[in-house]
Amino acid sequence: MLIDSYHRVVDYLRISVTERCNFRCQYCMPEKPFSWVPKENLLTFEELFLFVKVAIDEGIKKIRITGGEPLLREDLDVFIKMIYDYAPDIDLAMTTNAYLLKSTAQKLKDAGLKRLNVSIDTLKPEVAQKIAGKDVLANVLEGVEEARAVGLKVKVNMVPMKNMNADEIVDVLEYCKERGMSIRFIEYMENRFASKEISGLKSDELLAILREYYEFEDEGFDGASPSHYYRMSDGYRFGIIEPYEDDFCKQCNRIRLTAEGQLIPCLYFDEALSIGKAIKAGDVAGAAEVLREVVKNKPEKNRWGGEDGEISSRAFYETGG
Ligand code: GTP
Ligand code: 5AD
Ligand code: SF4
Repeated sequence: MLIDSYHRVVDYLRISVTERCNFRCQYCMPEKPFSWVPKENLLTFEELFLFVKVAIDEGIKKIRITGGEPLLREDLDVFIKMIYDYAPDIDLAMTTNAYLLKSTAQKLKDAGLKRLNVSIDTLKPEVAQKIAGKDVLANVLEGVEEARAVGLKVKVNMVPMKNMNADEIVDVLEYCKERGMSIRFIEYMENRFASKEISGLKSDELLAILREYYEFEDEGFDGASPSHYYRMSDGYRFGIIEPYEDDFCKQCNRIRLTAEGQLIPCLYFDEALSIGKAIKAGDVAGAAEVLREVVKNKPEKNRWGGEDGEISSRAFYETGG
């Protein structure tokens, strides 16, 4: 079992398989980065799998594949199947923008994927174009429908922004509710790469809007998720993620791996350790040691971007949020 210095059990590994993305979301990557990580610097699926086996043997029970956009990585289903065959009971999930889901959902399900988190920030094609930098909505919605049709469980993320999609909070919630998908509203997290014009809605603003339409009760946190949940009288639950808060940190169970092999103990922590050397040498004991060291280094709480105040210095497309 992996236990950190604050007695938290770490059993959730998020693996970013690429930082590349086919969207240019305003809050993440409005411009193409100056350069991408060269393909030869990415860990191969064989190398990643070697680490996955180490991590599972050490106590990891939940793995989420993220990006960038993970479906841009060729043969992702083969990697998923490798993980599934090794440990069929692992909670195996992926976070995707859903653009390529229509043609891949069945393969992913067959490979052993269980759950998906997708972003639906709007139901208006022109707003989707504005947020993601291209006309994406039809593909996204068709992708989501296909994923549900093949039996993947889908959760939705929405980042509400003023003068953009804030007027659609209830519409997107209803869209999810009708389909039995839970929705989490995420407060916009400032970062150096995002468009300067964004103004995200804070949770009290969101709740005030939702209270005009619904009655609901505060249910608090659910396990180790960063999301605060609210239950409506008909039983439907929605969540709000306030990344600037740190009250969910005491339950935090996650570490993150970048596509280049940097193992990161917390979303806002700059100190990472590389598993690359150990993995490339096939040194299983060495990789396990790096993993235990990173778990030991996990900070007690969120930390923000140092001297510059509350701005994340790391791009979220590197760590997959
Ligand atoms: P579930 O397994 O469905 O609970 O998913 P998840 O919440 O782990 O995954 P998802 O990829 O959908 O992430 C949702 C968002 O939660 C992220 O984009 C972040 O905004 C926020 N978040 C996730 N982990 C952390 C964290 O460690 N700290 C902070 N501050 N925010 C986080
Ligand atoms: N602020 C809030 N959420 C973000 N995401 C990406 N960048 C940001 C940001 N700056 C969200 C995406 C996706 C999730 C994994 O992270 O909407 O749903
Ligand atoms: Fe791509 Fe996700 Fe970033 Fe949008 S938020 S640009 S879909 S990585």
